[in-house]
Amino acid sequence: MQDIHQKLHKWYSINGRKELPWRNSEDPYHIYLSEIMLQQTQVKTVLERYYFPFLKKFPTLKSLANASLDEVLKSWEGLGYYTRAKNLHKCAQLTAPKLPKSYESLLALPGIGKNTASAICAFAYKQKRAVMEANVRRILCRIHALDDPSSDLLIEYAEALLDEENPYDYNQAMMDIGSMVCTVKNPQCEICPFLSMCQAHELACYDFPLKKKKSIPLKHENIVVELCEGRVKLIQREGRFLHGLWGFSASENPRGTKIGEVRHQYTHFKLEVSVYLKSVSAHKEGEAFSKDEIETLALSTVDKKILKLLTSHL
Ligand code: ADE
Repeated sequence: MQDIHQKLHKWYSINGRKELPWRNSEDPYHIYLSEIMLQQTQVKTVLERYYFPFLKKFPTLKSLANASLDEVLKSWEGLGYYTRAKNLHKCAQLTAPKLPKSYESLLALPGIGKNTASAICAFAYKQKRAVMEANVRRILCRIHALDDPSSDLLIEYAEALLDEENPYDYNQAMMDIGSMVCTVKNPQCEICPFLSMCQAHELACYDFPLKKKKSIPLKHENIVVELCEGRVKLIQREGRFLHGLWGFSASENPRGTKIGEVRHQYTHFKLEVSVYLKSVSAHKEGEAFSKDEIETLALSTVDKKILKLLTSHL
């Protein structure tokens, strides 16, 4: 093991993405935020559009706790999986001014599962925890030629490999190797520190873990945009999906003129929306918004696409 730890350490010191801002912060809140943002979003997107503006708006856990959910959702706009933002806000309210330090207390908080709790412990508190996420899972599955291991088995392998002398660099190195070397397509095995112990390489077969073929259903919706003296009617969503975001409501029997279609791909389904426009003569107070007012509200990506279609039509 010492040999592989040395190789990993060397690889990380030469190739690691040590400049990532959350790797240069000691603040557990910054590290926690990065882990939540990175759960379903690529490093590039988080880095270029979300991490810094969010921290500028909410520099401390306390400032996040004191903000309204609408403000938090506005800063999350376009990042998707909005439950992440709601749980982040709830966690801030439960724990500000400081996140707890123990794995168990972190795990008890909303939106923090085993992987995120391990990552916070390893990165914010330098604890001896093996971090698990999709890239690390792929490396371990390839090293051990595993098709579809249980999460307990994976954790066992991860803990066996963990460098207890240097858990921080070890975990960051695993993530970097997963995203830069042991990639889904065209892995660069010649430069991989795990080359000599990798069963996938020995088998010359990299299809580990087995990919489950998902068929993504297509859903269709009709949306009627109601316009009233240049103001647009919007509702604040209440169901589980996109809860708290503002948008247009769907209609079974659309009325008005069809102005086009928008499409969007979610993780579990594709959405195709037919957009209709209807002028109405009156609206209730607080139901319809001017262009400037809409700018201040958090809308989902689909609703933004509908708004863009509307603007190009008017
Ligand atoms: N994904 C999750 N955590 C990460 C980290 N610390 N660095 C890069 N990608 C990550």
